[in-house]
Amino acid sequence: MRKLMIAGNWKMHLNTHEASLLVHRLSERIDVHRNVEVVLAPSTLCLQPLSLEIDRRKFRLAAQNAFYKDEGAFTGEVSFTMLRDLVHYCIVGHSERRAYFHDTLEVVRNKVEAAVRNGITPILCIGETEHERKSGETKQVLHDQLTTALSNLTTNDVRDVVIAYEPVWAIGTGVTAKPAQIDEAVRFIRHNVAELYGQKVSEEVRVLYGAGVEPEYVAGVLSLDAGIDGLLVGGASLNYHKFSEIVNAAYRTRREN
Ligand code: PGA
Repeated sequence: MRKLMIAGNWKMHLNTHEASLLVHRLSERIDVHRNVEVVLAPSTLCLQPLSLEIDRRKFRLAAQNAFYKDEGAFTGEVSFTMLRDLVHYCIVGHSERRAYFHDTLEVVRNKVEAAVRNGITPILCIGETEHERKSGETKQVLHDQLTTALSNLTTNDVRDVVIAYEPVWAIGTGVTAKPAQIDEAVRFIRHNVAELYGQKVSEEVRVLYGAGVEPEYVAGVLSLDAGIDGLLVGGASLNYHKFSEIVNAAYRTRREN
């Protein structure tokens, strides 16, 4: 059975002191769950101090971004090589990076490859904008983002990648994606993985949902037929009541199913 993942993307929020406080609060409210992996993605600055503080039975760390070259004259960047012993995961291709930082299809592909080369599992975000959905381009966009991002990996590498379906129009907007829309998109993603890497890989790869996740949506989303293996949480991950409730709701849903 694929292990559930609940990941909190803190984006550009919380200094090291605030981040440490949030981890402390979460730790009080979250138990060790063997079937649910809880992943925290603080700012790059907080990764090192948090790595020393977290209870490793409860939490794993993810970076929010890194550069695809291993080292060199790239002022301001941090490489996957530098993160290798610090994080299990790195978010790659988040829509905010695609929109504001020129993370093109090729850059995302290079980052996915660099993550894998350095032993870090990418959490690859793909998703359509409102305009793309309204123009009927959702499947094309998901297909293009998925196939380019994975194109430098071997079938064996793809098995371990975590894919997150994140409809851009529902990220931090208050608009919620309907269960049928999520189900259809995730089915399509698995179908694409099956076509490219075979049925077995498509059954093994984890696909998360992210965008506007709140505690009350957890059971519904995780019970969809498409087989959703967890959630990528933005805004609600900064609130310890909400994030711990999301983790606990995921645990309950998994136990009941
Ligand atoms: P949100 O963000 O939960 O605030 O919508 C999700 C994300 O950006 O991954």
